[in-house]
Amino acid sequence: MNKLKLVFATNNQNKLKEVQAMLTNFEIVSLAEINCFDDIPEIAKTLEGNAILKANFITNKYDLNCFADDTGLEVEALNNEPGVYSARYAGKENNAEENLKKLLIELGDNSNRKAQFRTAITLNINKKQYTFEGICKGTILKEKQGEKGFGYDPIFMPDGFNKSFAEMNVNEKSSISHRGKAIEKLVTFLNNYT
Ligand code: IMP
Repeated sequence: MNKLKLVFATNNQNKLKEVQAMLTNFEIVSLAEINCFDDIPEIAKTLEGNAILKANFITNKYDLNCFADDTGLEVEALNNEPGVYSARYAGKENNAEENLKKLLIELGDNSNRKAQFRTAITLNINKKQYTFEGICKGTILKEKQGEKGFGYDPIFMPDGFNKSFAEMNVNEKSSISHRGKAIEKLVTFLNNYT
């Protein structure tokens, strides 16, 4: 039986592999595999908005079913910043070290260190649109801990753990992470999709 083809609007091989392993009933392809090398605009003011922009760009241009994700770190004492601007908090480039440093400076010794990672996924399938959300709550550490992961991982400690995301291996992180939870919802939906 032919598998339903779904574009995952990413070129991040780690994300792609993670999702392919969970969705074996579908043919999940990356942007490169459909020869899409466009710089897809991410100019919305919300995570959901950017996920919709990316998914719609692909569906409109290639007439393909597609899903896209966008993630941000929302820090309570900073009015939920950096949020949708997480990748470029300290400037245009996606410079994790500078972003993380800026966050620690902005937060200073504020005693409210509550934060959450939030992922929005938008799915366009057979002319309908669905959105899924995953949240991981935690606290911002005063200094970096751990070497693994990426982005803000060394300063984020998920609730219920006494180590940062950067001290967890990939499987442990995925089982509790924002992205893991959002993907799980997408997978449940797709595996029941007829
Ligand atoms: P993206 O939407 O997955 O590209 O994420 C946007 C930005 O959020 C990244 O450039 C990182 O700075 C940050 N980010 C997303 N997910 C994570 C995570 O799991 N750990 C740490 N930082 C993350």
